[in-house]
Amino acid sequence: MKLLIKNGKIINSNKLFIADILSIDGKITKVKKNISTKNIDKIIDATGKLVFPGGIDPHVHMHLPTHAGYSSDDFYTGSRAALFGGTTTLIDFVTPHKGQLLCDALDERDKEAANSLIDYSFHISPVEWRSTLKKEIKKCIKKGITSFKMYMAYKNSIGLEDDDIYKVMKIVGEYGGIITLHCELGDEIEELRNSFAKENKLTPEYHCQSRPAELEALAVNKAIKLAKKANCPLYIVHVSSKKSLKYIKKAQDKGQTVLAETCPQYLMLDKSKYTGDFYKVAPYIMSPPLRKQKDTKALWKAISDGVVQTVGTDHCPFTLQQKKAGIDDFRKIPNGAGGVEHRLALLYTYGVLEKKITIQQFVNITSTNAAKIFGLYPRKGEIAIGSDADIIIWNPNIKNTISTNIHHQNCDSNIYEGISTKGAPEYVIVNGEIAVANGKMLKKIL
Ligand code: URP
Ligand code: ZN
Ligand code: ZN
Repeated sequence: MKLLIKNGKIINSNKLFIADILSIDGKITKVKKNISTKNIDKIIDATGKLVFPGGIDPHVHMHLPTHAGYSSDDFYTGSRAALFGGTTTLIDFVTPHKGQLLCDALDERDKEAANSLIDYSFHISPVEWRSTLKKEIKKCIKKGITSFKMYMAYKNSIGLEDDDIYKVMKIVGEYGGIITLHCELGDEIEELRNSFAKENKLTPEYHCQSRPAELEALAVNKAIKLAKKANCPLYIVHVSSKKSLKYIKKAQDKGQTVLAETCPQYLMLDKSKYTGDFYKVAPYIMSPPLRKQKDTKALWKAISDGVVQTVGTDHCPFTLQQKKAGIDDFRKIPNGAGGVEHRLALLYTYGVLEKKITIQQFVNITSTNAAKIFGLYPRKGEIAIGSDADIIIWNPNIKNTISTNIHHQNCDSNIYEGISTKGAPEYVIVNGEIAVANGKMLKKIL
């Protein structure tokens, strides 16, 4: 398949220019002006449009098992929603059962992801310490997975003690990988949750109160120290608070490799969402919880200053019926919300158009940086000769209003309900094939 995109304004991580792009059989083969139109299967005129490398979402949880059932998007519906929003690569998680070898869990998860419409990769989570981990981690790295995710929270299921986190960091550092870490102090949060419960404070707002910003920031500080001692690069997932950013910046200024991710929900929404009746509040129950407006402002600034490198969605939706598992006890509400479909439009509208970030920062945080951090670059994350033809042709004039009625995420609520956006993908090209055109799916349904 030969696809030619004419006259688009190409936005790469460090360059902005008008040119044509030729893709042959899924790879970009030419990027220059006036490419011949002879023997081309399909030509798209991108005059007046922006052309971005396909979005890479470095943090999604498709088909995640919980006590309330699986998160409501599987790899098929979730990748479909991602495509409509301009994301062409997902990085999800492998979470082994206790006792299961990391590579076995990876193979199992790979099968679950086989119905994805787009490329994907994984972070692998050691959920317990064992002496064979060194060998297992080495094997995963050999298979091309370099990122290992651990949780300081959720200690009664997948979270690890600090000593064990340190031991894993040492191994991963030694083998040239990276640790991604959920930073919230698990024991202190557990104590707060249980003390609220004892006082019969069981409504959803106590989810937020039991996970204060201080406990995220203290975890971030602790993680930075552990990673320094272990000599291991650290990527902190879903940073939500201004206090955490202070520790991250301090470490970065001292030359430590500490990278940070935030999510659209922490940039767009605040804790005022935690007032009201259960069904209104439950969709916003996530960890970390939404914070104050001063935190959202600090996060935008941190992107602009280069302290935060990526924006992932932490896409993990649950239906209202699933959220209802915690109607009598906030501790039982499955944590997480959807957003994979809206990341680019929100960051473009409220970041680029409101001049909080530049258009090149937009490309960096939605695509290039994740590709570089997680070993996908230059195959992904750039419009360049030899790269995968994952390309977004962005119409800056399309206006939308986000709504459960029209979204493609498999969920009966949307945390961005009613928010307007300007700018949307007119074409989404995946491996050289047009997957979405003018809001319609063209890619073969599996
Ligand atoms: O509430 C959230 N974020 N759920 C997904 C799991 C996690 O902690 O990232
Ligand atoms: Zn997390
Ligand atoms: Zn997550």
